[in-house]
Amino acid sequence: EKVVLAYSGGLDTTAIIPWLKENYDYEVICCCVDCGQEEELDGLEERAKLSGASKLYIEDITDEFCDDYIVPCVQADAIYENKYLLGTSMARPGIAKALVKVARLEGATAICHGATGKGNDQIRFELGIKALAPDIKIIAAWRDDKWNMDSREAEIEYCKAHGIDLPFSADTSYSRDRNLWHISHEGLELEDPAVEPNFDHLLVLGVSPEKAPQEGEYVTMTFEKGVPTSVNGKEMKVSDIIRTLNKLGGKHGIGIVDIVENRVVGMKSRGVYETPGGTILMEAHEQLEELVLDRDTLRTKKDMGNLMAQIVYEGKWFTPLREAVQAFVESTQQYVTGEVKFKLYKGNIIKAGTTSPYSLYSESLASFTTGDLYDHHDAEGFITLFGLPLKVRAMKMAEIEKN
Ligand code: ARG
Ligand code: SIN
Repeated sequence: EKVVLAYSGGLDTTAIIPWLKENYDYEVICCCVDCGQEEELDGLEERAKLSGASKLYIEDITDEFCDDYIVPCVQADAIYENKYLLGTSMARPGIAKALVKVARLEGATAICHGATGKGNDQIRFELGIKALAPDIKIIAAWRDDKWNMDSREAEIEYCKAHGIDLPFSADTSYSRDRNLWHISHEGLELEDPAVEPNFDHLLVLGVSPEKAPQEGEYVTMTFEKGVPTSVNGKEMKVSDIIRTLNKLGGKHGIGIVDIVENRVVGMKSRGVYETPGGTILMEAHEQLEELVLDRDTLRTKKDMGNLMAQIVYEGKWFTPLREAVQAFVESTQQYVTGEVKFKLYKGNIIKAGTTSPYSLYSESLASFTTGDLYDHHDAEGFITLFGLPLKVRAMKMAEIEKN
């Protein structure tokens, strides 16, 4: 029987290969899902095979990640707990889908992942697999009774004992997860919320605001029906837009978030995220919506965006609720078309002008002079009715106090 292993090439998932063969007697098919993490994929096949896998698939889903997951979340303005742009969470359903695809291709009966038993990722991978392939057995190596490696040293020992001698180092770095949208950092000094992050040591996609250039830099973006279409006048596919914005944002110290977030499994966890391009893109999209959406839609959309963030964070991508929320969001995007200009400066995004052919903003209406559309006197009657319930209540209270 065959098992498909979600493989990154790191120590954890490499140690799982001999462990699966020894404890489950499976033929191990490795699958590395590329979501734009820009890691060394060279040598990965050799490493997997040397470790006992019979095959390595490298599934590049970067564009699918952009079109099917990132864009809907940008359109929803989905942000978890006011800060986290969901970079890891958004990628998990796409990875689960790719794993299932390879499992079907190979006729595998199980899928194995190396997420820990304390995190969110185990939930996301497993809900994704359950939704797409309810018949497939899921093996969570770290939660398995037969797993008895509790440190990198133990994993290195185990590999060595199974004839796998690879240049893994015992010292641990941050626990990181990278893709086109972001990189996350957890662990080391971050585990104490009282301690300032060591940004020089930690940052990967850019610099801290202090180290950013003294001179700001302009960037313009266009959107059509809520989909980003160009940067600085150049039309590009979404993945290239994000790559371009990542470079610009990273250079200017944009999108660094330090958060204590609530995991689904109950504990609080401190992490630092770098989302340079994503932060710019989401802010630009919101900027355009400010101009184009009416007040009621905007307010309801804000609620839907929070709901979308919750759904994505909890790994419930393949559900009717996500589909329905996404459909609502999509229907609000029809006129989210136009151009946004920002100045990037030392960690700040400064507005430098927004235009849309569908802008609902009317200068004459907003300015202080009276015109045909708006008569100041109309406001008086409006306020009389709008304020009626609170006036009635205040009168009642005064009456009660007198007695
Ligand atoms: N806390 C973030 C989340 O739940 C990031 C998780 C990072 N995952 C990882 N395997 N390092 O989405
Ligand atoms: C993990 O536990 O594997 C990473 C952290 C998380 O999933 O929240």
